[in-house]
Amino acid sequence: MRIAVIGFGTAGEGRLHAYRTVTAGRVVAVLDPSPERRARARQLDPGLATYPTLAELLAAQPVDAVDICTPPNHHVELEREALAAGLHVICEKPVAVRTDEALDLIDLARDRGLLLYPAHNYGFSPMMRVLTGAVAGGRLGGPLRARFRIARDSHARGVPGWQPDWRRDISVARGGIMLDHGTHCAYMATQLFGEAPRTVSCVAQWADGDATAGMDVAARLDLEFGDAGTCEIDLSWVSDTRSNRYLVSGPDGAADVHDGMAEVRTADGLERTDLAPPNRDQTHQEWFPGMFADFAGLVAAGTGWDRPMREVVTTTALIEAAYRSATRGGEPVVPAGLSAAEAR
Ligand SMILES: NC(=O)c1ccc[n+]([C@@H]2O[C@H](COP(=O)([O-])OP(=O)(O)OC[C@H]3O[C@@H](n4cnc5c(N)ncnc54)[C@H](O)[C@@H]3O)[C@@H](O)[C@H]2O)c1
Repeated sequence: MRIAVIGFGTAGEGRLHAYRTVTAGRVVAVLDPSPERRARARQLDPGLATYPTLAELLAAQPVDAVDICTPPNHHVELEREALAAGLHVICEKPVAVRTDEALDLIDLARDRGLLLYPAHNYGFSPMMRVLTGAVAGGRLGGPLRARFRIARDSHARGVPGWQPDWRRDISVARGGIMLDHGTHCAYMATQLFGEAPRTVSCVAQWADGDATAGMDVAARLDLEFGDAGTCEIDLSWVSDTRSNRYLVSGPDGAADVHDGMAEVRTADGLERTDLAPPNRDQTHQEWFPGMFADFAGLVAAGTGWDRPMREVVTTTALIEAAYRSATRGGEPVVPAGLSAAEAR
């Protein structure tokens, strides 16, 4: 598959390296409005064609799919443009911000016979393999209680030369940590519980104390999955430490992944695994081959596309519900979209 990477910043550059480790796809073009970033792409691969706009790229050379790695404010317009041009789409999170945008994109993809695929790479991480393995076959029993804690002392910075602090600019980022990192937690929880939450409650800490600006710097989400259990998610860009912890427990055991160390305790005993990656690559290139194999396999099969497309809707709806709850004093909100998606 011939791939065009759109947006050649941290994520885009990580993708160029990651595509070199797979055989089913290769990057043939890069699109970025920044001349500096286009020059960087050609420096890394002199054979690459680079373009400042999608229209110029599409006029100049054939591609089969695009991999969108721009900041969030451009995702939906680029997804629409690429789908309308007959291309399969992989898109970085968030694939959409509003559930109605997600539903419209999926309608467009279905009409054109194309796959819209979320780059939900944490789903292909070693920690998710441990957590799903622990939950599989009811090994922990039920109901489950999950707790995810993501602590950072700052937002992640983008490449110099564009807008390194776009994550704190609402017009570019379209939200704060809930949209940025919460998105990963949203689809991880949905995958682990095997369904979308019935309700989402959220309290947030807003930049400068101003909820109306929509820039959350810390948040606590409570997801209710009915009889299946509950999941608490704590997110912070204003912590004095950096750590990640994913804990899932049930009456028969627990799985705890804490900064790369995994411990699973079940009736079979205690199992410890060191999951620490070889480097601190922000784009997690080592998770990419699994994700891309899933995408390429689905494209080749031409079936099974409902799973990733539903995940686009459930994830968008969950985070949208969290923002709505946070602006209503934490009252439980039913995520929109799923029944609408099924009805369509
Ligand atoms: N899944 C992950 O693990 C992961 C990790 C990092 C970033 N991301 C996601 O990747 C996206 C980009 O983040 P980043 O950290 O790479 O940002 P970045 O600031 O490092 O890079 C952004 C790039 O996009 C380019 N750009 C801006 N507007 C564009 C447009 N209209 N068309 C094409 N290119 C455009 C900029 O010139 C810049 O090169 C975000 O959606 C972010 O959430 C995901």
